[in-house]
Amino acid sequence: MTTLLPELDRTAPSPLAAQIAGFYSRAITDGRMRAGDRLPPIRTIADACEVTRATVQDAYRKLAAQGLIEGTVGRGTVVLARTDDPNDANAARPLSPYAEAALLRSQEMPGAPPLPPGRALVANLAELAPDGARFPVAEWGAAMDAVLQQRGASVLGYGGATNGLPELRELLAARSREIDAQITADDLLVTAGAQQALDLVLRTFCAPGDTVVLTSQSYHQMHGLLRAHGLQSIGVPFTADGIDLDALDRALRRPRVRLVYLMPTFHNPTGRSLDEPQRRALMAKIARTGVPVVEDEYQFSLRVRGEAPPTLRSLDPRGLTVTVFTASKDLFPALRIGWIAGGKYLLQPMTAVKRFMDLETSALLQGALVEFLRAGHFDRYLAALRIELRARHDALQIAARKHLPPECTMTAPDGGYVAWLELPKPGQGDRLAELAAERGVRVVPGRVFDLHGAPSRGVRLSLTRSDRSEIDAGLAVLGACARELLAGPVAARPFL
Ligand SMILES: Cc1ncc(COP(=O)(O)O)c(C=O)c1O
Repeated sequence: MTTLLPELDRTAPSPLAAQIAGFYSRAITDGRMRAGDRLPPIRTIADACEVTRATVQDAYRKLAAQGLIEGTVGRGTVVLARTDDPNDANAARPLSPYAEAALLRSQEMPGAPPLPPGRALVANLAELAPDGARFPVAEWGAAMDAVLQQRGASVLGYGGATNGLPELRELLAARSREIDAQITADDLLVTAGAQQALDLVLRTFCAPGDTVVLTSQSYHQMHGLLRAHGLQSIGVPFTADGIDLDALDRALRRPRVRLVYLMPTFHNPTGRSLDEPQRRALMAKIARTGVPVVEDEYQFSLRVRGEAPPTLRSLDPRGLTVTVFTASKDLFPALRIGWIAGGKYLLQPMTAVKRFMDLETSALLQGALVEFLRAGHFDRYLAALRIELRARHDALQIAARKHLPPECTMTAPDGGYVAWLELPKPGQGDRLAELAAERGVRVVPGRVFDLHGAPSRGVRLSLTRSDRSEIDAGLAVLGACARELLAGPVAARPFL
């Protein structure tokens, strides 16, 4: 058998490891390599392609995670059998490119490194989903009872409005006016969470082969979603000085740019927000084009300090910006309720697309949320949550000053759950996450959020699960690990 060796494109945005993994994945799927065939030794590929062995190892790990290959002692790395048994994860299935991309993403989805067995948890600073221990279970039960008693079987049928129950849209519009005074019920489309809203936006504005512009570090689920839709992406840096407008300008000039995706407030993963002048400058650039913008205000109600700057939508004279909201972060994710604010011109096609996706969002859950909001449960819950969140943000900043070496920087968000801790060199953030896990602290390595999975300087810290004393203990560990990393050459391990 001739040895198959990949050809790499060093000008492509996709990392070399991903290119190598993609090459062998295609070779296996299209039958050029069969079950039992041996992949070339790591050194052979490293020499032939002029890459490091770690890069090839990284590629092989990705392929192993997809169930395509297996490393065996004595035989090297071999292609695994793909069976026709539908219960077998390796079965060859006739899948659409969308499903292939979703499956691949679900199999390689990285997160916070796990703690070693037996290691006690010192602080969980990884999870962004809110803490179940705080959920208003009894109040939600009362709202469910109330909606069934008052509306009976009618909430168990189709609600009859793809854009959402009118009374819920009224209440959500009132909530949204916290950040955008002009929003009315007619501007809203209720969705099954922000995730569906993002998928819906892509379905409405983009076609395979188009390009989406977003911050180089971004909500990690968006990366997979873009790929599933067959979209190219261009990252623009979002630093302490805001979004790099020159880079944005260049990105907007590229062919087939059809959407800009931004999180202007409490950005995931950095916690950064754009101030009003930055928002105005940004929208002035974008408004010269015809490219729609989706702003993801997933934590809009979790401000603990200061005034909310104007939304990007309110600064778009073209009416081509939509704002995505969700109840997942300030209430609970099981609601699966989010909403999109936009002008009629954009809402109309989005509503038509949503009808294809799920006809409508559950009338039962929408109705219960109406009862929950009307009874004042939400206001009380959110007020308590904000007080606790503010205390945690304060604790985080105090702990950072106390424990972190001067080479580290950390963002100081005015709300939301996340902050970003950064070291000077690429890869040090990813390594910090590993070292911290070994000592009982969970944080998410920055690489997870990088558009191309590139080694990262930072880690995302989340404040959903750790109280003030755990935050202090967690930062003490992170500070000690950072000092170690800065003191010596700690080889960055290849990352899956
Ligand atoms: C930035 C961002 N957008 C959207 C979502 C999806 O939220 P939802 O639960 O409303 O679908 C998340 C979830 O973590 C997120 O971080």
